[in-house]
Amino acid sequence: MNPNVRPESMERITTPALAEKFIEEQVALIKQQVGDKKVLLALSGGVDSSVVAALLIKAIGQNLVCVHVNHGLLRKGEPEQVIKVFRGEMNANLIYVDAVDRFLDKLAGVKDPETKRKIIGAEFIRVFEEEARKLSDISFLAQGTIYPDILESKGVKAHHNVGGLPEDLKFELVEPVKLLFKDEVRVVGKALGLPDNMVYRQPFPGPGLGVRCVGAITRERLEVVREADAILREEFAANGLQGKVWQYFTIVPDFKSVGVNEKGERTEGYLVVLRAVNTRDAMTATVPEIPFALLQKITDRITHEVKGVNRVAFDLTPKPTGTIEWE
Ligand code: XMP
Repeated sequence: MNPNVRPESMERITTPALAEKFIEEQVALIKQQVGDKKVLLALSGGVDSSVVAALLIKAIGQNLVCVHVNHGLLRKGEPEQVIKVFRGEMNANLIYVDAVDRFLDKLAGVKDPETKRKIIGAEFIRVFEEEARKLSDISFLAQGTIYPDILESKGVKAHHNVGGLPEDLKFELVEPVKLLFKDEVRVVGKALGLPDNMVYRQPFPGPGLGVRCVGAITRERLEVVREADAILREEFAANGLQGKVWQYFTIVPDFKSVGVNEKGERTEGYLVVLRAVNTRDAMTATVPEIPFALLQKITDRITHEVKGVNRVAFDLTPKPTGTIEWE
């Protein structure tokens, strides 16, 4: 039996009771595989790695070592939530790495999107490798691989890509959710007691806000993307759109637009673009209707609350012709 093929007989996990059964089975399997050895996990705070962390904590407690790398491209409040939930509430053995300056210095002046992605991916591996080397007694590496990752034959996710680790750090893998689909991972996450905004989180690319701060990233413009994104998410949640719209975020292009302030003076400020899409598989996407009054409220909040912004636009483009991300 190929361990990377989901058996036809495997029941779809749709209820809390089925999730409990899965958790019980996986905890036993993890204990059997790992024994009293230590396991390392890159914990991004996304659904998949969070569910894997919670499962392993249940199975082996402090023998799971979680590494959370803050590369400065995460959404507002994310690193804080990882620390609060995992260290504060689950008593996880969590190493928090503040690598913000390191990433932003490497990215300074880099305009090409693929080069930005490569730098972010490679630097992530380097930071993770450095942390792994500080720990002498690791025997396993846990990963939040899910079934679509296997089906897309990537095997591992770009931003957790252990393929990039040197040979001596390629530990045996622990991948407890590798046969699950995303909706099943969410049911399991809920049963494990993870907060809703972690379990029902929209997809977030590995390079994070880095590809939404178009062109060469500056710290100032990155803060604009982050603050505007937080307002968009807050308003979507308050108006019942969280969990209904598949992905929604902000983009800030690398030019300033001309505007005028309340005193009638000419201003130069950033343009914030709002993007909201629905899709099944991210290959094509449609733009849902968002109530006009809500778009007006979001525009008003962003132009008044986010420093340096004088204009907001809503991207009406389906995929094709536009991709979901802007670069
Ligand atoms: P596009 O922009 O190609 O995006 O229509 C399709 C989906 O993929 C996500 N995306 C990425 N995810 N690393 C990731 O992990 C990336 O470099 C990346 N680029 C795009 C995007 O957010 C959307 O969900």
